[in-house]
Amino acid sequence: MNNRRKIVVIGASNVGSAVANKIADFQLATEVVLIDLNEDKAWGEAKDSSHATSCIYSTNIKFHLGDYEDCKDANIIVITAGPSIRPGETPDRLKLAGTNAKIMSSVMGEIVKRTKEAMIIMITNPLDVATYVVSTQFDYPRNLILGTGTMLETYRFRRILADKYQVDPKNINGYVLGEHGNAAFVAWSTTGCAGFPIDDLDEYFHRTEKLSHEAVEQELVQVAYDVINKKGFTNTGIAMAACRFIKSVLYDEHTILPCSAVLEGEYGIKDVALSIPRMVCADGIMRSFEVHLTDDELEKMHKAAQSVRSALDGAGI
Ligand code: LAC
Repeated sequence: MNNRRKIVVIGASNVGSAVANKIADFQLATEVVLIDLNEDKAWGEAKDSSHATSCIYSTNIKFHLGDYEDCKDANIIVITAGPSIRPGETPDRLKLAGTNAKIMSSVMGEIVKRTKEAMIIMITNPLDVATYVVSTQFDYPRNLILGTGTMLETYRFRRILADKYQVDPKNINGYVLGEHGNAAFVAWSTTGCAGFPIDDLDEYFHRTEKLSHEAVEQELVQVAYDVINKKGFTNTGIAMAACRFIKSVLYDEHTILPCSAVLEGEYGIKDVALSIPRMVCADGIMRSFEVHLTDDELEKMHKAAQSVRSALDGAGI
Protein backbone atom coordinates (compact mmCIF):
# COMPACT_ATOMS: atom_id res chain seq x y z
CA MET A 1 0.00 0.00 0.00
CA ASN A 2 1.40 3.38 -0.93
CA ASN A 3 0.18 5.95 1.52
CA ARG A 4 3.06 8.29 0.84
CA ARG A 5 1.94 11.90 0.36
CA LYS A 6 4.49 14.01 -1.49
CA ILE A 7 3.97 17.74 -1.79
CA VAL A 8 6.25 19.92 -3.91
CA VAL A 9 6.36 23.63 -3.06
CA ILE A 10 7.71 25.81 -5.86
CA GLY A 11 9.11 29.02 -4.41
CA ALA A 12 10.80 28.96 -0.98
CA SER A 13 10.35 32.57 0.05
CA ASN A 14 8.08 33.90 2.79
CA VAL A 15 4.96 32.24 1.37
CA GLY A 16 6.51 28.96 0.23
CA SER A 17 8.29 28.37 3.53
CA ALA A 18 5.11 29.19 5.46
CA VAL A 19 3.16 26.69 3.36
CA ALA A 20 5.80 24.03 3.98
CA ASN A 21 5.70 24.59 7.72
CA LYS A 22 1.89 24.64 7.88
CA ILE A 23 1.93 21.32 6.04
CA ALA A 24 4.17 20.02 8.82
CA ASP A 25 1.97 21.51 11.55
CA PHE A 26 -1.06 19.71 10.18
CA GLN A 27 0.86 16.58 9.24
CA LEU A 28 -0.48 16.76 5.70
CA ALA A 29 2.47 15.07 3.96
CA THR A 30 5.11 12.38 4.33
CA GLU A 31 7.54 14.31 2.13
CA VAL A 32 7.84 18.01 1.32
CA VAL A 33 10.15 19.19 -1.46
CA LEU A 34 11.16 22.82 -1.82
CA ILE A 35 12.19 24.18 -5.23
CA ASP A 36 13.59 27.67 -5.77
CA LEU A 37 15.94 29.41 -8.20
CA ASN A 38 17.84 30.31 -5.05
CA GLU A 39 18.79 26.73 -4.11
CA ASP A 40 20.57 27.83 -0.95
CA LYS A 41 17.35 29.43 0.29
CA ALA A 42 15.35 26.31 -0.52
CA TRP A 43 18.00 24.08 1.09
CA GLY A 44 18.06 26.22 4.22
CA GLU A 45 14.28 26.34 4.56
CA ALA A 46 13.96 22.59 4.03
CA LYS A 47 16.76 21.78 6.46
CA ASP A 48 15.36 24.15 9.10
CA SER A 49 11.89 22.60 8.78
CA SER A 50 13.36 19.10 8.94
CA HIS A 51 14.84 19.93 12.34
CA ALA A 52 11.39 20.89 13.61
CA THR A 53 10.01 17.50 12.56
CA SER A 54 12.63 15.79 14.72
CA CYS A 55 10.48 16.80 17.65
CA ILE A 56 8.76 13.99 19.53
CA TYR A 57 5.34 15.46 18.77
CA SER A 58 5.94 15.79 15.05
CA THR A 59 5.39 13.42 12.19
CA ASN A 60 8.62 12.33 10.55
CA ILE A 61 8.11 14.40 7.40
CA LYS A 62 11.05 14.31 5.06
CA PHE A 63 11.87 17.88 3.98
CA HIS A 64 14.46 18.45 1.31
CA LEU A 65 15.65 20.64 -1.54
CA GLY A 66 14.52 19.30 -4.88
CA ASP A 67 14.03 20.07 -8.53
CA TYR A 68 11.29 19.63 -11.13
CA GLU A 69 12.05 15.90 -11.39
CA ASP A 70 10.41 15.67 -7.95
CA CYS A 71 7.09 16.59 -9.61
CA LYS A 72 6.95 13.18 -11.31
CA ASP A 73 5.50 11.40 -8.27
CA ALA A 74 4.10 14.41 -6.43
CA ASN A 75 0.53 14.24 -5.14
CA ILE A 76 0.25 18.01 -4.89
CA ILE A 77 2.29 20.89 -6.31
CA VAL A 78 1.93 24.31 -4.67
CA ILE A 79 3.08 27.23 -6.83
CA THR A 80 4.23 30.34 -4.95
CA ALA A 81 7.00 31.54 -7.30
CA GLY A 82 7.21 35.17 -8.43
CA PRO A 83 7.36 38.58 -6.77
CA SER A 84 4.64 39.84 -4.41
CA ILE A 85 3.37 43.30 -3.63
CA ARG A 86 5.93 45.08 -1.45
CA PRO A 87 5.38 47.75 1.24
CA GLY A 88 4.46 51.13 -0.20
CA GLU A 89 3.75 49.79 -3.70
CA THR A 90 0.50 50.40 -5.55
CA PRO A 91 -2.10 48.34 -3.68
CA ASP A 92 -3.18 46.19 -6.62
CA ARG A 93 -1.99 42.63 -7.22
CA LEU A 94 -3.04 42.89 -10.88
CA LYS A 95 -0.05 45.10 -11.61
CA LEU A 96 2.10 41.95 -11.30
CA ALA A 97 0.25 40.29 -14.21
CA GLY A 98 2.87 40.85 -16.94
CA THR A 99 5.81 39.67 -14.82
CA ASN A 100 4.22 36.72 -13.08
CA ALA A 101 2.29 35.42 -16.08
CA LYS A 102 5.65 34.79 -17.77
CA ILE A 103 6.98 33.07 -14.64
CA MET A 104 3.85 30.91 -14.45
CA SER A 105 4.28 29.85 -18.09
CA SER A 106 7.86 28.83 -17.35
CA VAL A 107 7.00 26.97 -14.13
CA MET A 108 4.02 25.13 -15.63
CA GLY A 109 6.07 24.29 -18.71
CA GLU A 110 8.51 22.42 -16.45
CA ILE A 111 5.72 20.71 -14.50
CA VAL A 112 3.87 19.32 -17.54
CA LYS A 113 7.11 17.69 -18.72
CA ARG A 114 6.98 15.57 -15.55
CA THR A 115 3.37 15.06 -14.62
CA LYS A 116 -0.28 15.64 -15.53
CA GLU A 117 -1.62 13.91 -12.44
CA ALA A 118 -0.61 16.15 -9.53
CA MET A 119 -3.06 18.59 -7.99
CA ILE A 120 -1.84 22.11 -8.74
CA ILE A 121 -2.56 24.67 -6.01
CA MET A 122 -1.88 28.19 -7.21
CA ILE A 123 -0.85 30.97 -4.83
CA THR A 124 1.25 33.28 -7.03
CA ASN A 125 -0.33 36.70 -7.57
CA PRO A 126 -2.21 38.05 -9.33
CA LEU A 127 -3.83 34.77 -8.37
CA ASP A 128 -6.69 34.74 -10.86
CA VAL A 129 -4.35 35.70 -13.70
CA ALA A 130 -1.86 32.99 -12.68
CA THR A 131 -4.64 30.41 -12.42
CA TYR A 132 -5.94 31.36 -15.86
CA VAL A 133 -2.47 31.13 -17.43
CA VAL A 134 -1.68 27.63 -16.16
CA SER A 135 -5.22 26.45 -16.94
CA THR A 136 -5.37 27.67 -20.53
CA GLN A 137 -1.81 27.60 -21.87
CA PHE A 138 -1.18 23.92 -21.16
CA ASP A 139 -2.86 20.59 -21.78
CA TYR A 140 -3.42 19.83 -18.10
CA PRO A 141 -6.65 18.52 -16.53
CA ARG A 142 -8.66 21.60 -15.51
CA ASN A 143 -10.07 19.84 -12.46
CA LEU A 144 -6.53 19.49 -11.11
CA ILE A 145 -5.81 23.24 -11.13
CA LEU A 146 -7.09 25.28 -8.19
CA GLY A 147 -6.31 28.85 -7.16
CA THR A 148 -6.50 29.69 -3.45
CA GLY A 149 -8.56 32.69 -4.53
CA THR A 150 -10.89 34.34 -2.04
CA MET A 151 -10.53 31.61 0.57
CA LEU A 152 -8.14 34.05 2.26
CA GLU A 153 -10.56 36.96 1.99
CA THR A 154 -13.21 34.68 3.48
CA TYR A 155 -10.94 34.04 6.47
CA ARG A 156 -10.41 37.78 6.80
CA PHE A 157 -14.17 38.35 6.60
CA ARG A 158 -14.73 35.86 9.44
CA ARG A 159 -12.06 37.49 11.58
CA ILE A 160 -13.40 41.03 11.05
CA LEU A 161 -16.89 40.04 12.14
CA ALA A 162 -15.62 37.79 14.94
CA ASP A 163 -13.64 40.68 16.41
CA LYS A 164 -16.52 43.11 15.97
CA TYR A 165 -19.00 40.89 17.84
CA GLN A 166 -16.59 38.86 19.99
CA VAL A 167 -17.77 35.53 18.55
CA ASP A 168 -15.78 32.55 17.29
CA PRO A 169 -14.81 33.10 13.62
CA LYS A 170 -15.94 29.54 13.00
CA ASN A 171 -19.48 30.69 13.72
CA ILE A 172 -19.27 33.11 10.80
CA ASN A 173 -20.10 31.41 7.54
CA GLY A 174 -20.60 32.44 3.95
CA TYR A 175 -18.31 33.38 1.11
CA VAL A 176 -16.21 36.21 -0.21
CA LEU A 177 -16.16 35.73 -3.99
CA GLY A 178 -14.74 37.28 -7.16
CA GLU A 179 -11.12 38.38 -7.50
CA HIS A 180 -8.43 37.58 -4.98
CA GLY A 181 -7.75 41.25 -4.75
CA ASN A 182 -9.44 44.62 -4.94
CA ALA A 183 -12.59 43.30 -6.66
CA ALA A 184 -13.32 40.72 -3.94
CA PHE A 185 -16.84 41.07 -2.55
CA VAL A 186 -18.93 39.48 0.19
CA ALA A 187 -21.80 37.39 -1.13
CA TRP A 188 -23.95 38.54 1.78
CA SER A 189 -26.77 36.31 0.64
CA THR A 190 -24.56 33.32 1.54
CA THR A 191 -23.54 34.60 4.97
CA GLY A 192 -24.82 33.81 8.46
CA CYS A 193 -23.76 33.42 12.06
CA ALA A 194 -24.65 30.25 13.97
CA GLY A 195 -27.75 29.81 11.89
CA PHE A 196 -29.12 33.33 11.98
CA PRO A 197 -28.64 36.29 9.60
CA ILE A 198 -25.45 38.24 10.24
CA ASP A 199 -27.44 41.46 10.22
CA ASP A 200 -29.19 40.23 13.38
CA LEU A 201 -25.90 40.34 15.28
CA ASP A 202 -26.32 44.05 16.06
CA GLU A 203 -29.61 43.30 17.77
CA TYR A 204 -28.28 40.26 19.66
CA PHE A 205 -25.28 42.22 20.89
CA HIS A 206 -27.22 45.47 21.44
CA ARG A 207 -24.97 47.43 19.13
CA THR A 208 -26.21 50.85 18.18
CA GLU A 209 -23.76 51.17 15.29
CA LYS A 210 -25.29 49.13 12.46
CA LEU A 211 -23.03 46.76 10.54
CA SER A 212 -21.89 48.44 7.32
CA HIS A 213 -21.53 45.90 4.52
CA GLU A 214 -19.49 48.36 2.50
CA ALA A 215 -17.10 49.05 5.39
CA VAL A 216 -16.56 45.33 5.97
CA GLU A 217 -15.80 44.74 2.28
CA GLN A 218 -13.37 47.64 2.17
CA GLU A 219 -11.64 46.42 5.35
CA LEU A 220 -11.17 42.84 4.17
CA VAL A 221 -9.51 44.08 0.98
CA GLN A 222 -7.40 46.77 2.67
CA VAL A 223 -6.15 44.63 5.56
CA ALA A 224 -3.85 42.65 3.25
CA TYR A 225 -2.04 45.86 2.30
CA ASP A 226 -1.95 46.96 5.95
CA VAL A 227 -0.19 43.70 6.87
CA ILE A 228 2.23 44.06 3.95
CA ASN A 229 3.05 47.65 4.92
CA LYS A 230 3.66 46.73 8.56
CA LYS A 231 5.14 43.20 8.36
CA GLY A 232 6.62 43.46 4.85
CA PHE A 233 4.62 40.61 3.39
CA THR A 234 1.75 38.20 4.13
CA ASN A 235 2.35 34.49 4.46
CA THR A 236 0.60 32.83 7.41
CA GLY A 237 -2.98 33.40 6.28
CA ILE A 238 -2.33 32.31 2.73
CA ALA A 239 -0.42 29.26 3.93
CA MET A 240 -3.44 28.22 5.99
CA ALA A 241 -5.72 28.76 3.00
CA ALA A 242 -3.49 26.54 0.87
CA CYS A 243 -3.48 23.84 3.57
CA ARG A 244 -7.28 23.95 3.71
CA PHE A 245 -7.35 22.87 0.07
CA ILE A 246 -4.53 20.36 0.53
CA LYS A 247 -6.49 18.70 3.34
CA SER A 248 -9.69 18.54 1.28
CA VAL A 249 -7.79 16.90 -1.60
CA LEU A 250 -5.74 14.44 0.48
CA TYR A 251 -8.70 13.38 2.62
CA ASP A 252 -11.21 13.45 -0.26
CA GLU A 253 -13.39 15.71 1.87
CA HIS A 254 -15.76 17.03 -0.85
CA THR A 255 -15.67 20.42 0.85
CA ILE A 256 -17.37 23.37 -0.82
CA LEU A 257 -14.89 26.26 -0.69
CA PRO A 258 -14.40 29.55 -2.51
CA CYS A 259 -11.53 29.00 -4.93
CA SER A 260 -10.35 30.26 -8.29
CA ALA A 261 -10.67 28.39 -11.57
CA VAL A 262 -11.65 29.30 -15.12
CA LEU A 263 -15.38 29.96 -15.28
CA GLU A 264 -17.31 28.01 -17.90
CA GLY A 265 -20.40 30.18 -18.11
CA GLU A 266 -21.28 30.50 -14.44
CA TYR A 267 -23.00 33.86 -13.91
CA GLY A 268 -22.73 34.35 -17.65
CA ILE A 269 -18.92 34.59 -17.44
CA LYS A 270 -16.29 32.72 -19.45
CA ASP A 271 -12.61 33.06 -20.31
CA VAL A 272 -11.46 34.33 -16.93
CA ALA A 273 -10.64 32.72 -13.57
CA LEU A 274 -12.46 33.91 -10.46
CA SER A 275 -13.47 32.49 -7.09
CA ILE A 276 -16.89 30.95 -6.73
CA PRO A 277 -17.92 28.06 -4.45
CA ARG A 278 -16.48 24.79 -5.73
CA MET A 279 -16.40 21.26 -4.36
CA VAL A 280 -12.84 20.07 -3.67
CA CYS A 281 -11.97 16.38 -3.30
CA ALA A 282 -9.30 13.81 -4.20
CA ASP A 283 -10.08 14.41 -7.87
CA GLY A 284 -9.53 18.14 -7.46
CA ILE A 285 -12.39 20.47 -8.33
CA MET A 286 -15.43 18.24 -8.71
CA ARG A 287 -17.95 20.93 -9.61
CA SER A 288 -18.86 24.57 -9.07
CA PHE A 289 -21.96 26.00 -7.41
CA GLU A 290 -23.62 29.01 -8.98
CA VAL A 291 -25.00 30.17 -5.64
CA HIS A 292 -27.71 32.79 -5.67
CA LEU A 293 -26.37 36.33 -5.86
CA THR A 294 -28.35 39.53 -5.54
CA ASP A 295 -28.31 41.92 -8.49
CA ASP A 296 -25.70 43.99 -6.68
CA GLU A 297 -23.52 40.93 -6.01
CA LEU A 298 -23.87 39.76 -9.62
CA GLU A 299 -22.73 43.18 -10.78
CA LYS A 300 -19.68 42.90 -8.52
CA MET A 301 -18.90 39.45 -9.97
CA HIS A 302 -18.97 40.92 -13.47
CA LYS A 303 -16.82 43.86 -12.40
CA ALA A 304 -14.29 41.40 -10.97
CA ALA A 305 -14.33 39.51 -14.28
CA GLN A 306 -13.76 42.73 -16.23
CA SER A 307 -10.91 43.73 -13.91
CA VAL A 308 -9.08 40.42 -14.23
CA ARG A 309 -9.81 40.18 -17.97
CA SER A 310 -8.36 43.66 -18.43
CA ALA A 311 -5.16 42.61 -16.63
CA LEU A 312 -4.95 39.51 -18.85
CA ASP A 313 -5.43 41.65 -21.96
CA GLY A 314 -2.79 44.09 -20.70
CA ALA A 315 -0.37 41.20 -20.33
CA GLY A 316 -1.21 39.99 -23.84
CA ILE A 317 -2.87 36.78 -22.56
C1 LAC B 1 -2.67 38.14 0.49
C2 LAC B 1 -1.76 37.69 -0.63
C3 LAC B 1 -1.51 36.21 -0.56
O1 LAC B 1 -3.81 38.55 0.22
O2 LAC B 1 -2.30 38.04 -1.93
O3 LAC B 1 -2.25 38.00 1.64
